[in-house]
Amino acid sequence: MVAIVMDGNGRWAEAHGKSVDEGHRAGARALRRTVEAAIDLGIETLVVYAFSTENWTRPSGEVADLMVLLSETIDEELPDLAKQGVRSRFLGRRDRIDPAIQEQMRALEDETASLDTLSLWIAFDYGGRAEIVDAARRLVEDGVPAEDVDEAALAERLYAPELGEIDLLIRASGELRISNFLLWELAYAELVFTDTLWPDFDVDDLRAAVEAYAARQRRFGARAAR
Ligand code: IPE
Ligand code: IPE
Ligand code: MG
Repeated sequence: MVAIVMDGNGRWAEAHGKSVDEGHRAGARALRRTVEAAIDLGIETLVVYAFSTENWTRPSGEVADLMVLLSETIDEELPDLAKQGVRSRFLGRRDRIDPAIQEQMRALEDETASLDTLSLWIAFDYGGRAEIVDAARRLVEDGVPAEDVDEAALAERLYAPELGEIDLLIRASGELRISNFLLWELAYAELVFTDTLWPDFDVDDLRAAVEAYAARQRRFGARAAR
């Protein structure tokens, strides 16, 4: 399973003398391209970071533009990807998003529920800490006694328990950090960073990341075989 931090839209816009909104729009096109490339590479599950719990602190105009872009992406790009067998789901809080867009999110999830070429999770209003806190709250709500709280009990209460472990995390734009993405699920992920700004990310970047991953030796804490 592959996860991507789609970063660098602002710097791409600045480098091209465009508005930040145009940068985000170029980023949405890159997402579509990347999902198609992922299908070609045989990737079955892809999680992309589109909007963090901290991104609400951006200027209100930029946040508003991102909400419009979310709505338009659900209407235009994701149905085209559905024609290629892409099941789309959202990861994160929903309650702070416009109810009309929440309805679009639900409808898209329902309409694509039976598709299985590639499973796309779009992390929106997502925070790794918030996800763990919400899972802890559910443990309490479910009345789980302290002695029964273990990793499995918590993992079952994450936003998408079926997601499982991330194998490969890719971050675009040269930043070397996690930025509160999938803190639980990344525990043993291999990390690949590329300087490519997200709007320029293409099939070659994806292939290079997958090849770097394939060359890694994963140990999961065990003594490596000699
Ligand atoms: C990523 O691009 C998109 C979001 C965080 C919504 P940025 O907007 O963070 O781009 P940079 O980091 O400013 O270049
Ligand atoms: C992470 O990028 C969030 C998304 C790509 C959606 P940011 O641009 O928000 O992260 P920081 O601020 O550089 O850590
Ligand atoms: Mg950024």
